[in-house]
Amino acid sequence: MRIVRHVILFGCVLAGMAGCATEKRHCGEKCAADAKSLYERLGGEAAVKAVVNDFVDRAAANPKVNFTRKGTNKEWQATPENVQHVKAMLVLQIGEASGGPQKYTGRDMKSTHRGMGISGAEFDALAGDLAATLDKYKVAPADKSELLSVVSSMRGDIVEAR
Ligand code: HEM
Repeated sequence: MRIVRHVILFGCVLAGMAGCATEKRHCGEKCAADAKSLYERLGGEAAVKAVVNDFVDRAAANPKVNFTRKGTNKEWQATPENVQHVKAMLVLQIGEASGGPQKYTGRDMKSTHRGMGISGAEFDALAGDLAATLDKYKVAPADKSELLSVVSSMRGDIVEAR
């Protein structure tokens, strides 16, 4: 039995590498989906950079997000350098979280956003901007929900108001 399992597993790996139809016979639909990381399915670094670029510009322009935290004592200046920094950190963070080779070197989410008074509605508006960006780049529905779950998992560290 063990040998049979190994043979099937090996067949799976080969089929995944070749991207051929045989994997369905051996492993079912799930095997094909598991063969590539979310990072690869999104299209690697170029795709992650394009997504982050569009998403940050979209969120920064959305009054429902209030990205610059106007009216709070944690007001942030959207200078080209500051925007560039946040984008670079997000590429590392999303790259790492989706299985890419990046290593996130930024600050943790709780202390970064502490005192910003970010509400649940503002967080939802930001997640909506990410969803709109992923639609713009025609990201497959399963990949879109996987990435949105990564972002949603940070909610508890970021939302602190109302
Ligand atoms: C409504 C929600 C959010 C708002 C208003 C917001 C706002 C901000 C602001 C103003 C900064 C700059 C802080 C500074 O440099 O002192 C920042 C940094 C950052 N944010 Fe957010 N953020 C939100 C949600 C998120 C989410 C969901 C993520 C992750 C997917 C995220 C990831 C980051 C990262 C990686 C940085 C850079 C950290 C560093 O400089 O080391 N933010 N955010």
